Amino acid sequence: MPQPNVVDHPLARVMLTRLRDRTTSPAEFRTLVGRLTGILLHSALADLDLTPAIIDTPLAPAQGWTLARPLAFVPILRAGLGMAEAALQHVPGAVVWHLGLYRNEATLEPVVYYNRLAPGALRDTSVVVLDPMLATAGSVIAAVDLLQAAGADDICCVGIVGAPEGVQALAAAHPAVRVFLAALDERLTGPGDTWPAGYILPGLGDAGDRQFGT
Ligand code: PRP
Ligand code: URA
Repeated sequence: MPQPNVVDHPLARVMLTRLRDRTTSPAEFRTLVGRLTGILLHSALADLDLTPAIIDTPLAPAQGWTLARPLAFVPILRAGLGMAEAALQHVPGAVVWHLGLYRNEATLEPVVYYNRLAPGALRDTSVVVLDPMLATAGSVIAAVDLLQAAGADDICCVGIVGAPEGVQALAAAHPAVRVFLAALDERLTGPGDTWPAGYILPGLGDAGDRQFGT
């Protein structure tokens, strides 16, 4: 079983508990998605390459650093939107490429409905995919396919909750893609469960619906 990076910070655990709670309001849910994204990004971006730069403080020259490569955040619509805002607050100089993908509810296959990436748009760029839920991983695998077609070769995925089935499928399809999560849950729902197949158990429900109150 490939192991994702599970960011097990005490504050992340408390936030995740509120996210899982079915009584949490959409307003609180959105706030927590943003805050948790910040914690996850600290780990996901810990290996970013830097370029040294000398700057002048008011007193003297000092050693400083800039990002060696451009950074792109790629939120998967809809549920990745709340993560993108928070990510930009951490790295205001990053660019954002939105990808529109939803799961066909019957087949669980991803359907792409929005992609403005031009060939080569992501060459020499560090890319961070943002989607709170890694369930079957069909959506993230399709997203990584599109990002690679746009020239990306340095991709990580930041999510909130993952299922073992999805982690395994993503590792099989894209072994070089690193995964950062706040929790690796038990399994996906299937026959005999009350929720439709393909939801993360215990999970937090439908992340898009819970953020936007739909
Ligand atoms: C959710 C979620 C992921 C996807 C995960 O989106 O935000 O994108 O499902 O499932 P997978 O790993 O099995 O592909 P959804 O399809 O519900 O679209 P929405 O956010 O537009 O409602
Ligand atoms: N998408 C969600 O929003 N939640 C799940 O549990 C699975 C897919």
